[in-house]
Amino acid sequence: MSKSTQNRRQFISTSGKAGMALAAMPLMAKINPITSIHSKTKFSVVNEYAQQPLNYSYTALEPFIDAMTMEIHYTKHAATYAKNLADAALAEKLDTQTYSLTDLIKNISHYSPKMRNNAGGHFNHEMFWQMMKPAPASIPTGELNEAINKSFGSLDNFKTVFSDAAKTRFGSGWAWLIIKADNTLAVCSTPNQDNPLMDIAETKGTPILGLDVWEHAYYLKYQNKRPDYINAFWNLVNWEFVQKKYAEVITKK
Ligand SMILES: [Fe+2]
Repeated sequence: MSKSTQNRRQFISTSGKAGMALAAMPLMAKINPITSIHSKTKFSVVNEYAQQPLNYSYTALEPFIDAMTMEIHYTKHAATYAKNLADAALAEKLDTQTYSLTDLIKNISHYSPKMRNNAGGHFNHEMFWQMMKPAPASIPTGELNEAINKSFGSLDNFKTVFSDAAKTRFGSGWAWLIIKADNTLAVCSTPNQDNPLMDIAETKGTPILGLDVWEHAYYLKYQNKRPDYINAFWNLVNWEFVQKKYAEVITKK
């Protein structure tokens, strides 16, 4: 199991003797993960509602995404979504102990616009960081490769369709590769911080690859040239992660 996978499991991270003792205590489950996001206690609770560490440095995606963009994107924009999600969860009495972030996203129409924007923002960015890795990009293989060829004809055709979705998303939003209910692949885009898993999404499915086309993701380096940023993204795609997500979704069905 990779380190990132371990981090993303809902588990209690402890250290030292006290941590070992607490790890065996069922009472630990009563710690509120929301309040733990910003508190610097001896023990930390790792949960999907909190921003997780990046698996690479801010410079790791250069020259395709510059370090300053990565740092501001991660520490300011994405961190703010996580903080505001925590605030919304407290205000709306969301039981984050028992309600998964994915279930929240799937039922987002029952919550406030603040919850929708920030749950989506947090969920999308946590995936986005994992969907990229330092260049060079690999290529999809196995069942994912077969599915791409079946749905789009070829990897190059898929890239064209996906890039067009990213280029034509008006204003801020995301482009996605999704698995639809019938297990076929499709490309779509969503406005703002919406996600195809949301019950309000125009095109629904499970995202396995996404591209942030908010200006905050590229403007420092690419200014108004969003297509150049989209082209650069193909050097960074973590196809191993995409394949893993694909296999997880297909296996569950
Ligand atoms: Fe972003």
